[in-house]
Amino acid sequence: MQLLSIKQPQEGTYFHRLAQINGTPALVIDCRVIRHQYLVLQSALPGVRLYYAIKALPHTEVVAALAELGAGFEIAGSGELQLLRQARVKPRDTIHTHPIKRDNDIRQALRFGCTTFVIDNTEELLKFIPYKHRVGLILRLRFRSRDAVVDLSRKFGCPPQEAYQLIALATRLGIHVKGLSFHVGSQCLCPDMHVQAINVCNRIIRQTHDLGAAPISLLDIGGGFPVAYDQDVPSIEAFSAPIVQALNRLPRYVTLAAEPGRFLVAPAGTALLSIIGKAWREGQIWYYLDDGIYGLFSGQVFDHTRYPLEVFSESPKRYPSVLAGPTCDGTDVIAENLMLPELEIGDFLVGRQMGAYTIASATRFNSLPPAQVVVLDSRRKSHDACNATGIESGGSKPPAS
Ligand SMILES: Cc1ncc(COP(=O)(O)O)c(C=O)c1O
Repeated sequence: MQLLSIKQPQEGTYFHRLAQINGTPALVIDCRVIRHQYLVLQSALPGVRLYYAIKALPHTEVVAALAELGAGFEIAGSGELQLLRQARVKPRDTIHTHPIKRDNDIRQALRFGCTTFVIDNTEELLKFIPYKHRVGLILRLRFRSRDAVVDLSRKFGCPPQEAYQLIALATRLGIHVKGLSFHVGSQCLCPDMHVQAINVCNRIIRQTHDLGAAPISLLDIGGGFPVAYDQDVPSIEAFSAPIVQALNRLPRYVTLAAEPGRFLVAPAGTALLSIIGKAWREGQIWYYLDDGIYGLFSGQVFDHTRYPLEVFSESPKRYPSVLAGPTCDGTDVIAENLMLPELEIGDFLVGRQMGAYTIASATRFNSLPPAQVVVLDSRRKSHDACNATGIESGGSKPPAS
């Protein structure tokens, strides 16, 4: 079910003015919200170093804003190195977490200065023989959660019962496995699998220590921290509390890391869209927007997400309506079975919670250009980008976090 709000036109003034100035389709990224999310997550997970998963929203200003706060960065591919260079991120603040890499990916990351890599199987371990004096590896374990909207432990992760064998092989090869990690899935609706995974890792860390292998001194608990789209999710404090309890039972020498993506950037992203076409078909009004599931709404396909939408009208009348994207593909439909006031070509809509896995997975289908990205308040010391473009941020509010 799509969450849809029908609001008074004046409630949309702030974003409407941004849309008038910048045009649509656009994705507005508010770095104030990203900073807020980072600080909230950091205080919910004390002692855990946060490595932003760049793939969620790969943008230099986002990386720079988080770097200013002391965040680390999780790299999933060589293309992200350019963003890190542009934002002047220190290589020691990065970890390369893709479990499957080409030799060229390893070499490019090493050239950048990243020396921490994730593996989850023997073949991948063997790829590090030539670089064994330069790297520390993290072994990713598999824990499948039924409560995660996006499963990340089918395709990746070593079964926990095989961990010690792989660590022993690494030791024989002279390769240092310094840590364990897991990703129980993205958009987890409860923390149970995180807790279970930490407890299993705790046992493996202690066993490895007892068996005389080099101590495992890092645990990376991945991502999965949820945000509210079309259903309520626990507050980050409630979600994190049992995780923190489980982390507190680890040996003291273990340092802690996490790789949040969605939680940091989803609430910071607001899509600005316009109606470009309108037709009555089979008793419903079809509205054609200037972006759809091949663009900003690609997360409806790849990320299994439904974004809260807002339309603006004073009219009390409602009509069965469909919101469709601009491409010529019949599947490019954002939402149907909606009861909307009658809207007109040129009217403006807003999509909320659209910072994560939206523009990141947008395609160029039908040769349509991607939505432009408008970044607000990218540097802490700069003034608001709204004012820089001539509009006041007072009156209607910027996105709530
Ligand atoms: C290895 C890895 N780390 C971190 C993340 C970020 O996860 P989330 O957005 O759930 O925080 C992902 C998401 O795909 C991932 O694959």
